[in-house]
Amino acid sequence: MLEIDCLTVRYGPITAVRDLSLGVKSGEAVALLGPNGAGKSSTLLAIMGLAAGMGRIAFDGRNLTGLSTEDRVRLGIALVPEGRRVFANLTVAENLTLGGALLSGRAARDAATDQVFVLFPKLAERRAQVAGTLSGGEQQMLAIGRALMAGPRLLILDEPSLGLAPLIVAQIFDRIAALKASGLTLLIVEQNATQALRVADRAFVLANGQIALAGNAADLLATGNLAAAYLGA
Ligand SMILES: Nc1ncnc2c1ncn2[C@@H]1O[C@H](COP(=O)(O)OP(=O)(O)OP(=O)(O)O)[C@@H](O)[C@H]1O
Ligand SMILES: [Mg+2]
Repeated sequence: MLEIDCLTVRYGPITAVRDLSLGVKSGEAVALLGPNGAGKSSTLLAIMGLAAGMGRIAFDGRNLTGLSTEDRVRLGIALVPEGRRVFANLTVAENLTLGGALLSGRAARDAATDQVFVLFPKLAERRAQVAGTLSGGEQQMLAIGRALMAGPRLLILDEPSLGLAPLIVAQIFDRIAALKASGLTLLIVEQNATQALRVADRAFVLANGQIALAGNAADLLATGNLAAAYLGA
């Protein structure tokens, strides 16, 4: 579904991602792991057209080069950004409506909102609350819900566990597993390797902008020393 070939992302003199190639098949969950500054977010931003990359990125066989972020969302790619970035002054419902801005018609938006509320009943309870006053976990649910409003076939998550207590991380990953079970294709960036590997089919470990290790998620989980070797944990 997603093919990245020889992606390089530079910010002036800094090379954040170097010659990275990876693929995500339809229905699969792929984890992209690695320490701070490895180039994980830069890779995701390049997929969305939010960072300039050299190389080829294709979705459903279609080259994304030159397409706007909006066009990429229309094709079926949605990003849950690092740090959640919910609109703090808007309510839960308003945040979701904006996520569904590309859907045509109120009926489609209402149906998408209902689906998000089934996945995250807590958001339904809090629909009139301004997002800035939600807990971190609730904000993460909202960020995921907002991305789902676009009706993506590929959902990309950038560090969904960031700054959350272990119990909340487990709840978020339970919902991510439910999304995978529903057939959604996932690309998950995480520093929490264990949680990500539990839901993923395959994983890539990024270090200094390059793939240091790739493999079956179950095998990497069994190896156990992954964190020590590559994540500095
Ligand atoms: N807008 C930018 N301008 C200049 N350098 C940047 C920019 N964004 C990222 N970088 C640099 O690119 C490198 C990779 O950053 P990136 O955010 O992709 O890493 P990451 O793996 O997502 O890290 P983290 O786990 O901390 O989120 C870092 O050295 C970072 O300082
Ligand atoms: Mg990042």
